[in-house]
Amino acid sequence: MSSQKMRTTYCGLVTEALLGQTITLCGWVNRRRDHGGVIFVDLRDREGYVQVVCDPDRAETFKVAEGLRNEFCVQVKGLVRARPAGTTNDHLKSGKIEILCHELTVLNPSVTPPFQLDDENLSETTRLVHRVLDLRRPYMQNNLMLRYKVTMEVRKFLDANGFIDIETPMLTKSTPEGARDYLVPSRVHDGMFFALPQSPQLFKQLLMVAGYDRYYQITKCFRDEDLRADRQPEFTQIDVETSFLDEEEIRTMFEGMIRSTFKNVIGVDMPAFPVMTHTEAMRLYGSDKPDLRVQLEFTELTDVMKDVDFKVFSGPANSPDGRVVALRVPGGSEMSRSEIDGYTEFVKIYGAKGLAWIKVNDIAGGREGLQSPIVKNIHDAAIAEILKRTGAASGDLIFFGADKAKVVNDAIGALRVKVGHSEFGKAHGLMQGEWKPLWVVDFPMFEFDDDAQRWNAVHHPFTSPKDGHEDWLETDPGRCVAKAYDAVLNGIELGGGSVRIHREDVQSKVFRALKIDAEEAQLKFGFLLDALQYGAPPHGGIAIGLDRFVMLMTGAESLRDVIAFPKTQRAQDLLTQAPGPVDEKQLRELHIKLRNTQTA
Ligand code: AMO
Ligand code: AMP
Repeated sequence: MSSQKMRTTYCGLVTEALLGQTITLCGWVNRRRDHGGVIFVDLRDREGYVQVVCDPDRAETFKVAEGLRNEFCVQVKGLVRARPAGTTNDHLKSGKIEILCHELTVLNPSVTPPFQLDDENLSETTRLVHRVLDLRRPYMQNNLMLRYKVTMEVRKFLDANGFIDIETPMLTKSTPEGARDYLVPSRVHDGMFFALPQSPQLFKQLLMVAGYDRYYQITKCFRDEDLRADRQPEFTQIDVETSFLDEEEIRTMFEGMIRSTFKNVIGVDMPAFPVMTHTEAMRLYGSDKPDLRVQLEFTELTDVMKDVDFKVFSGPANSPDGRVVALRVPGGSEMSRSEIDGYTEFVKIYGAKGLAWIKVNDIAGGREGLQSPIVKNIHDAAIAEILKRTGAASGDLIFFGADKAKVVNDAIGALRVKVGHSEFGKAHGLMQGEWKPLWVVDFPMFEFDDDAQRWNAVHHPFTSPKDGHEDWLETDPGRCVAKAYDAVLNGIELGGGSVRIHREDVQSKVFRALKIDAEEAQLKFGFLLDALQYGAPPHGGIAIGLDRFVMLMTGAESLRDVIAFPKTQRAQDLLTQAPGPVDEKQLRELHIKLRNTQTA
C-alpha cells in the first residue's frame, strides 16, 4: 500500500530511524553535484534537505539524474542508508543518512531560476519580485511555519481561557485608530465609500455589549500610514476583548499568553513583565517603548541649566516645554571624534540641532580633567551637579540634549538605543539580557496637537480615564490619565490596549474634549453610543501585532520577512504589481472620475 503513495515522508525528516527502508520522496533539486561517476542531488522540501545518490549502474535513473537542474520538482524512490564515515553533516537532521536512488521521476522541470536559492545576498527587490522562489528558501519557510505555530499556540491559549473567535466585517465604516483609511467605493451607492478596518475596535466593543464576554480574532487591519520596517499597510492583529476583567487582570491574562507562546514555540522562558508608568518611561528613556536591554538612562538636568551662560541649554531649561538631559556612556571617552560626529548627524534625524558632549578623562582633575566643546560656558556648580547626578567616572562620555522635550526625548531616546546596539555598546556590556519585556501603563488620555490647536486621543477615543479623572475631561484634559497599557518587548511595541468607556455620558464627554460635537459623534459613532445605553458591561482588551510578535521571535529585521506576500516601504506589492490601474468601465460603475491620471 505505502509503496503506491506519491510520497511517504518529507525530505528533511528522513533520519537514521528509517535506515534500511525504501521510501518515496518528493521535493525540489537544490543542487546537483557530479562526483566522478556518481551524482549527488540535494533534495529540498519545507522540512529541510536530504542527500540522494545516483549510481551509474542504474543506467536509466542515472540518465534522468544527469538532466536534473536546480528547482526541478522530482520524485525519488530509494533506500535509506548510512552515509560513509567522514561524510556525515551535523547541520542537517538527515545528515547521517543518504538515499540510494532506485527510481527518479521528473514531476516538472523548471526554467533557470533568476538566482541561486541559497544566495545570502539577494536584494529585497529581487526577493519580492520573485516572491514564490524566495518563499521556497528555508529562511522564509521557517519563518512562516513559526508564524503558524504562534497562531496555533495563541488559539489554544485563548480557547482554554474561554475566548471565542468571531469575525467582524472588512467592508465597514472608518474607525479612528489615527491613520488614514483605505477606502472602497460603493457601486450600489453613488458617492459612498466603505473603509477597510484599521482594527476591529468598535465591533469588539459591540460584541461585549451583545454579551459575548470573551472575544478574539486573528485578523487583518488596514492603515494607510507612513511605513517603516515594523509597519505594514495591512497587518495582522491578535485582537481580544473581554468583559468583567479589570486593567490588571487583563494584563495578567495577556502577559500569560505572550509568555506561554514564547515558551511553547521557541522554548524561551520570558521573564515576568515589570510595570512602568508612561511618565517614568519618558523620564528615564525618553520613549514609551524603551528597550530595557540597553543599560543607559537619561539624567534630568533641566533644573540645573536654568542659569548657565550657554544659551543652547538655558533656553530650553527656562521654557515650559523644554528639557535638558544627559546620557552617560560608561567607557565612552575612547570614542573617536568621527564616531561622535556620526552620532551628532544621527540625532539630527530626530530634530536635534546638535549633540553636546563631555569626555571625563580624569574625574579627580576637576574642570581640567574634562574635554568638551561646551564646559567653558558652564559654571562650576552646574558642572559639579552634572558629574554628581550622572555618576560619572573617569573614562566616561556624557552626551547632552537640550530642546523642546519632544525633540530631546526622540533624539536622545534614539541615541540611547543606537549606542547600546553599536559594536561599542556590545563590547562594553551596554546590552544585557536577550528578552526584556515590560508593560507601559498610565498613558495620558490626550496629547495636544500644536498644529491643529486641539487635543487628540493618545490611544483611541474609547479608552477609559482613570477613576476620578472623568471630571477633568472637559476642564483640564492634559491631566487625565488613561486606563491604557502597551506590551513592549526589546524596544518594540508588541501590543496595546485599554479598559474602555462603558457609559454613554463619559463617552460623550471624551468626544467633547476631542472637539467632536454631538452631531458628528452621532454621525460617526451613533451605533456605539446607542449600544452603550443598553446595559453595556465594563470591558477592555488588547491587540497584539502578530507580525511584530513573529518578527521578534524569529529575529527577522523586517516585518516583510514574516509575511508571505508583503508590501514594500512604498506600499506596493512587487509580485502582483498592485496597486494598478483599472478599466474606465469599472470606474464608471463606481461613479469615479480620476482627477489627474489618465486610465489605460
Ligand atoms: P494599536 O493601534 O496600538 O491598537 O495596535 C495594536 C498593535 O498592532 C500592531 N500594529 C502594527 N503592526 C504592523 N504594521 C502596522 N502598521 C501596525 N499598526 C499597529 C502593533 C500594535 O501594538 N484597537 C486597538 C487595540 C485595543 O485597544 O484593543 C489597536 O488597534 O503591534
Ligand atoms: P554651538 O555653540 O552651536 O557650536 O554648539 C556647541 C555644542 O553644543 C556642539 O557640540 C553642538 O553639537 C551642541 N549643541 C548644539 N545644539 C544643541 C542642542 N539643542 N542640544 C544638545 N547639544 C547641542
